[in-house]
Amino acid sequence: MELLSIKNITAGFGSFKALDDVSLTVNKGELVGIIGTNGAGKSTLFSVITGYVSRLSGHITFAGETFDHLPIHQRVRRGLGRTFQVPREFGNLTVRENLLAAAPNQLGEKLLPLMFMGRRIAAEEERLEARAREIISFLNLSRVENEMASKLSGGQKKLLELGRLLMLGPQCILLDEPFAGVNPVLIGELSERIAELNKRGLTVVIIEHNLAELSRLVPRMYAMDRGKIITEGTAQEVLANEQVREAYMGGVI
Ligand SMILES: Nc1ncnc2c1ncn2[C@@H]1O[C@H](COP(=O)(O)OP(=O)(O)OP(=O)(O)O)[C@@H](O)[C@H]1O
Ligand SMILES: [Mg+2]
Repeated sequence: MELLSIKNITAGFGSFKALDDVSLTVNKGELVGIIGTNGAGKSTLFSVITGYVSRLSGHITFAGETFDHLPIHQRVRRGLGRTFQVPREFGNLTVRENLLAAAPNQLGEKLLPLMFMGRRIAAEEERLEARAREIISFLNLSRVENEMASKLSGGQKKLLELGRLLMLGPQCILLDEPFAGVNPVLIGELSERIAELNKRGLTVVIIEHNLAELSRLVPRMYAMDRGKIITEGTAQEVLANEQVREAYMGGVI
């Protein structure tokens, strides 16, 4: 069943076209990769899907609903979340505080009489604390849960970024270069956690330059070059594609 559908998306900056007629589909429960050389338009694609960059034309549908005009937070609320190429943690908060700060405010818009709010807020806080504990343990961050985020290694920051995303309770996550700046041991761990999340039903789309690790992780991938999708298929098929080989270092991968 189709969860995310991108149809003929065009987007750009000034007169520059960063995305040129891009179409792709992600089914519910899939784990899909996106590869492409620097500047191919991969991050811009995530930004258009999540509402950070406006599309010039084309359509985005998520869970059967059009996303074309929805603001960022409404897309998040419907279960679509992303990470950024450069992690955006709060350096002066602890790991645990970072997770709690990432949770959406569920009560803010409700006009309940004040006398009932105290109890509801306490229940909500307890629920979020429990979710944060679960995520800390799932991501093996227990040893550093009370450390300032600024003290974490590159890999731990990526794990925290994933944790912050999981606090939103998403159905689909878009990960922008999760393995960049991560040591090889932690790459293996991150990759295994992503696979486990997918096994539990989360739909995952990953942009990655680490082609070896991505090929091990995803059964299917898209390749982009200069704002266009150039091919799609299994890792083996995509990496053997002539256009892909040409785009990467003139034919040597
Ligand atoms: N905010 C912006 N303003 C102007 N141009 C931008 C902006 N963001 C991206 N671009 C340009 O759009 C093109 C695509 O950029 P994008 O960041 O999507 O590439 P990418 O495939 O993610 O590359 P990388 O692998 O290096 O992260 C590039 O030429 C980039 O310079
Ligand atoms: Mg990018």
